[in-house]
This record gives sequence, structure tokens and C-alpha cells, in this order.
Amino acid sequence: MRTALFSFLVLLGSCATHESHEATLKSVLADKFHIGTALNSWHIAGRDSMAHEVITRHFDAIVAENCMKSMYLQPREGEFRFREADAFVRFGEEHHMHVTGHCLIWHSQLPHWFLTDDEGNDVSPEVLRQRMKSHISTVVGRYKGRIKGWDVVNEAIMEDGSYRRSKFYEILGEEFIPLAFQYAHEADPDAELYYNDYNMYFPGKREAVCRLVGELKARGLRIDAVGMQGHVDMRHPSLEEFEASINAFTDAGVKVMITEFDMSALPSPWQSANLSDTLSYEQRMNPYTDGLPEAVDAEWNERMMQYFQLFLAHADDITRVTLWGVTDATSWKNDFPVRGRTDYPLLFDRHYQPKAVVQQLINTAR
Ligand code: G3I
Repeated sequence: MRTALFSFLVLLGSCATHESHEATLKSVLADKFHIGTALNSWHIAGRDSMAHEVITRHFDAIVAENCMKSMYLQPREGEFRFREADAFVRFGEEHHMHVTGHCLIWHSQLPHWFLTDDEGNDVSPEVLRQRMKSHISTVVGRYKGRIKGWDVVNEAIMEDGSYRRSKFYEILGEEFIPLAFQYAHEADPDAELYYNDYNMYFPGKREAVCRLVGELKARGLRIDAVGMQGHVDMRHPSLEEFEASINAFTDAGVKVMITEFDMSALPSPWQSANLSDTLSYEQRMNPYTDGLPEAVDAEWNERMMQYFQLFLAHADDITRVTLWGVTDATSWKNDFPVRGRTDYPLLFDRHYQPKAVVQQLINTAR
């Protein structure tokens, strides 16, 4: 009896050892950068067991795709709803993950009350400062010591380097950005603070963000990293443009995070001739409803690997690469910029299976 039990325990131990030695994205990238994904409400509620398996096996960093945006956290002034955000943070803690808070100040997904007074007019600068401080200190304070870093301001700069003419800008001018970073730091002095944006490979935007980093630092404000969202397709941007921004932000004295990485496999409406009739346009713009042709799939995997080779080459400067979703099935790209398309932008397919680039990346990064 004793022998059988001993043999069983040895077998169990070897399985456990084998499990811990299984090569996964997070195991092979552990000494390079955090590899993360974005959790939607189903993932957070534990209602997608297959996704749960992919998330916990391959990723060591998570960000909430939606539930921590201000319209969900504070839908009415002073009325905070933390249930889903609490569950999200608990998920990260239970699985010993790097948790990112997304996002504190963003012109989109903002509750209507935030910028308007009872008469529906823009609030005064003083009221807006107070509302920003209250939101940020309540939210960041709640997760003090539990959330590693925050997307403090999201998408405030345009491609030409000008400031987005958001209401934050109209009411407070450029000052709203340093104020947001100041409030976040006061609420959790140990939290990392990030500026996050998309299309960061446009020279004008790249230079403006470098200036912004310099101004924040000159004021003695904390900024740890710039988040390059990385919503790309197979044509744009060039890897050279992407790398030029990694270098520029690194030279500005901050780390780089690829915060919302995905690569559309579909034609971009911005590069397409405006076809006359809707039907041919829809067929042209949504060509792969029954799966990717082999040649397109191969091209997609090759391009994705080129991006990861770029990230690996800059592993000293890149601290996190986060995919904006778990599988192709729930990617926002199925509905943007054209609703109701079938896109293939992420590392795991609609059957929760890893694409070829995942094993290639594991073999390369080992
Ligand atoms: O949950 C409601 C559902 O109850 C309702 O029936 C449905 C009706 O449209 O809307 C659902 O909410 C949607 C939500 O995603 C959850 O699916 C919102 O309409 C929709 O606007 C929201 O889109 C999100 C978008 O940000 C706007 O917040 C995307 O999922 C999310 O991937 C996207 O992520 C942003 C980053 O936060 C910032 N960078 C750009 C990135 C892509 O836009």
C-alpha cells in the first residue's frame, strides 16, 4: 500500500513539475516583458471557462477592457459602482498578475454629468478640477497598492501633435494633463503612471508626446511609461515608424508599453476605393467571413512575428505587451471601423486555439 501511495505521489509531483515547465507565453517572456490581455465582462464574471484557461496559462498581466472607465465607475456624481472593477482586481490578485487600471481621464466613455452643470452648460475650470480630483482620488485610492499602474490620461494628442479639442482641453487647457497625473500620484504614490494613446507612429504625435513627457518631468510629476496602444493592420504602420517611436519615448526618459495590441487582417476602409454599391463594398470590406485564406493567415502570422521580434529587440525598454482581447471572437475590431465584420486580430482564434505565431514566439523567446 505504502509503495502504491509513494508511486502516486511521485507521479503527481512529476506532473506538477511538468506543468510548471510547460512553455507558455508568460513563461518564455518572463525575463523580457509582461505579456497581457484585456478582460471583458464575461471574462471577469468567470462565464467563459475556455478563455479563463487561455488567460491564466499564457498571460501575466491584465487590464479591464471597459469596466474601469469613468462612465461605468461613476455613472452619476458621487455614485460609484465598483462591483465589476473589484472582481477584476481580485482576479488579478488571485492569479498573481500585473494589473493595469484603464483609464482615469478620457474624452470618450465619460458620463455626461462630468463636464456639464445643472443647466447643461460647461462646468467652470474649478468645478472640473474638483470633479477630476474626486474621481481619480476615489478610484486610485480604492485600489492603492493593488493596481500596479494607471492609464492616467488616454488619447489627448492628435496625429499632427496638436491637443485634442476635448472638453477637458476647452475648459482647462493643457493643464488638465499634469493635474490628472498629480491627483493620481497623490492617491497612490507607489503606482506607476502612464500616458496612453493610439497612432503613436505619426511624427507630429510622437514629438508632441515626447514634449508632454518632458513637461511632466520638468514639473517633478511622476510618469513611468508611455502606452503605445498598437492597433495596427498588416500594411500600417511600417515597423520602422513603430520602432522610431519606441526609440523616441525611450530617449524621452520613460519606459514603453504596448498597451492594446491587435492587428486587423481586413482591408481598411481608409485605404479602399469608395465602391459604388453597398453590397460590393460590404463584400470587399468583409471578405473572410468563413475563415482566413491560408496565404492571408500566413502573412498575418509572419507580420505578427515581426512585431514581436521588434518588441524582443527592445525588451530593455518595453515593460509590457498587452493584447487587446483574448480571442478573435470578442475583439472590438469585429465592429470597428466597420460594424459586423469577421476580423482575426489576436493571438488566439475563435476556437481558443493559439495561432502559429504563438508557438513560433515561444520557440524564439525560449
Ligand atoms: O455592455 C453594453 C451592452 O449592455 C449593450 O447592449 C451594448 C449596446 O451597444 O453596448 C455594450 O457596451 C459596449 C461596450 O464596449 C461593451 O461591449 C459599448 O456600447 C461600446 O461602446 C464599448 O466599446 C468599447 C470602446 O473602447 C469604447 O469604450 C470597446 O469594447 C473597447 O475595446 C474599446 O477600447 C478602447 C480603449 O478603451 C481605448 N483605446 C481604444 C480602444 C478601442 O476603441
